Amino acid sequence: MKMKTVKVGRNDPCPCGSGLKHKKCCLGKSAPGIVELEETYARKYRIRLKKSVDIEGIRKAGRLVLDTLDLLESEIKPGITTDDLNTLAHAFTIKNGATPAPLKYRGFPKSICVSVNEVICHGIPGNRVISDGDIVNVDVTSILDGYYADANKTFFAGTPGPDARKIVDVARECLRRGMSAAEPGNTIGDIGWHIQTYAEAQGCSVVREFVGHGVGFGFHEAPQVPHFGHKGTGIGLVPGMVFTIEPMINLGKKELRILDDNWTAVTKDGRLSAQFEQTVLVTENGVESLTPYE
Ligand code: MF3
Ligand code: CO
Ligand code: CO
Repeated sequence: MKMKTVKVGRNDPCPCGSGLKHKKCCLGKSAPGIVELEETYARKYRIRLKKSVDIEGIRKAGRLVLDTLDLLESEIKPGITTDDLNTLAHAFTIKNGATPAPLKYRGFPKSICVSVNEVICHGIPGNRVISDGDIVNVDVTSILDGYYADANKTFFAGTPGPDARKIVDVARECLRRGMSAAEPGNTIGDIGWHIQTYAEAQGCSVVREFVGHGVGFGFHEAPQVPHFGHKGTGIGLVPGMVFTIEPMINLGKKELRILDDNWTAVTKDGRLSAQFEQTVLVTENGVESLTPYE
C-alpha cells in the first residue's frame, strides 16, 4: 500500500475522535498529545493504540503470515485436501517460532481457516478435496513474540470459470478500496461505504455478520470494522490504530447460514463467496499495511 498524504478538512470528523467536526473541536488548537489520544481511545472505545515497538512486532508477525500464504499458494491444486493445507501451515508456523492463533480459539479445532467456493469464512480444514476451478480462501493468523497479525487471500485451483474470476476480482478490489479509505480524518464508516458501494455496483453483495477488527495484542480487539455503512459515521481514524479489513463478498445474495459444526459459514443461495484480508495501520499520513500484498 502506497502512503498517501491527507489533510483534515474543516468539516471532516476531528482526528481526536470526539465525533465533532474538526472546526468545532481541535482545529487551530494545539494538537491533542499522543498520550491524551491514547487515553481517550482506550476510555471511550476500548481501542488500544499501538506504539512503534508494537507496530514492529505486528509487522514481523505479518511477514510470517505472508510467507505462510505464499507457501499455501504454491500447494493449492486439484487433489489436495483442505487438511493438507492445515498441516503445512501448522508445521511452517511452529518452525518459525510462532503459534497459529485459530487453534483452540473458542474451540476452533484447526490452525487455519480454509473456505472453498460457497463457504464464506471459518471453513474447518478436513477431508474436502480441492477440484479444478475451485476458489480457495486461506486465512492465516499467527502469534509471534506475543503479537498477532491476520491476513487472508482467495486463490484459484486449476482453471477458474467466469464466476470465479469475477467474485475474486471484486473482493480483491473491495479490500483495496477499503484500505484507501483508512486514513486519519476519515471514519470507520468511510471504509465500509467504499466497500459496499463498489461491491453492489458490480452486482455483488456484502456479508454483514462478520466484520474486520482491531488486532495486535489479541486476535479480536475493538473496534469492529463493518464492510458496509455510511460515509462519515462511526469512530474517527487516528494514527496508531491497527485493525483488519476483510470484506466477504458474495456473487449472489448476502444471506448466510452456519453449518452444524457451528463454524462454517456458507452462502444461503449456494453461490460463490470470496474474501481478502490485511492488517493495516493508520499513520499520520495515511495507511500502511502490516501484511502488505497487492
Ligand atoms: N482469521 C479470522 C478473522 O479474520 C478469524 C478466524 S476465528 C477461527 O478474523 F477461530 F475460526 F479461527
Ligand atoms: Co480477521
Ligand atoms: Co483472518
